[in-house]
Amino acid sequence: MSTLLNSSFTEPSASPALLLLGQKTDLSSERGVECTGDLPAASDPDLVERARVARAALGDRAFILGHHYQRDEVIDFADVTGDSFKLAREAAARPDAEFIIFCGVHFMAESADILTSDDQQVILPDLAAGCSMADMAAINQVEDCWDVLTDAGIADVTLPVTYMNSTAAIKAFTGRHAGTVCTSSNAEVALRWAFDQVGGVDGTGKVLFMPDQHLGRNTAMIKLGLTAEDCVVYDPRKPGGGLTTQQLQDARMILWRGHCSVHGRFSERNVTDIRAAVPGINVLVHPECKNEVVAAADFVGSTEYIITMLNNAEPGSSWAIGTELNLVRRVAAAHPDKNVHYLDSTVCFCSTMNRIDLPHLVWIMESLVAGRVTNQIVVDSDDAHWARVALDQMLALPGL
Ligand code: 13P
Ligand code: SF4
Repeated sequence: MSTLLNSSFTEPSASPALLLLGQKTDLSSERGVECTGDLPAASDPDLVERARVARAALGDRAFILGHHYQRDEVIDFADVTGDSFKLAREAAARPDAEFIIFCGVHFMAESADILTSDDQQVILPDLAAGCSMADMAAINQVEDCWDVLTDAGIADVTLPVTYMNSTAAIKAFTGRHAGTVCTSSNAEVALRWAFDQVGGVDGTGKVLFMPDQHLGRNTAMIKLGLTAEDCVVYDPRKPGGGLTTQQLQDARMILWRGHCSVHGRFSERNVTDIRAAVPGINVLVHPECKNEVVAAADFVGSTEYIITMLNNAEPGSSWAIGTELNLVRRVAAAHPDKNVHYLDSTVCFCSTMNRIDLPHLVWIMESLVAGRVTNQIVVDSDDAHWARVALDQMLALPGL
């Protein structure tokens, strides 16, 4: 062991790609990694009481949003819980709250900042709560991709659609090119609208879908009736996206090569195994799962949809759920009369969602009480303007 260490160990290089957690800020990524405060200890027995006291002191000045993947200890202090679409709407609907405390991940807090007024301050309790999927698309890569589409002669018949799980800069790019944001709960409506702008689903126009290839493919194939051959995957790390001009011209859905590290781990085998183990079980998965998993499941939908399905399920019915573990555990606890399974016991929590914990929440609330605003998320004004155009387009989609 020591021989190996001695022979192979080298000092960490000064490469900008290697960023040590807690030191500096990764400017090329949506994640911040700076933590300047003194966090309360995680094991402090008085922590819940400190949170209650700080929350009460803030009163109506603060509004706390909690995404469904957050820890129980955080959800206990949320004024409202929801999926990313519901939380974006809730943030926009609280003009009187001075502080919006966003217990979720960085791109969600950015969207809240864009949708709230300039005198409201959006706070993310831990700046390292990013999203590995959102990090798979950088704005310079998206601009390069658009140049590739332009050179292939298809940019003017292509509309960009970006998933909520993307940086504000990419939402702004989408707004500048007359596209829309979507979430997992409105992806079908958003895609139909997008195709309508370029000649309809049955025409020849195209959608550039970023950054989750699985949500894009699942929605196109299962909801819109497009085929696997209609979809190509654009790899930002390869010249020309790794595609020929002919492939780009023939495609209807140009899918960014991004995925969720949590949902990407569920497999078709999981579905087969649980069906064999629990006859009659209903398999319910999030659309960030791979296409073969979604195709093998009985139901697919956003986190809010999953909760509603279980609320409406018959007592005694059996369910296997393929999404983040915090949500599934809470759903199981809320429905002791139903038989709730996790689709794959080796898939675990979303590590970045889980960075928001009670010590961070207490820290930022006590700071606010003391008159200090910590971990504010601010989107620059030009990006905010164009990202808002794309977000407003989403909020105006028909039937939502
Ligand atoms: P929802 O849109 O269902 O909230 O999902 C967001 C997310 O990050 C799922 O991984
Ligand atoms: Fe991102 Fe996946 Fe975590 Fe959702 S579950 S925040 S997509 S890494």
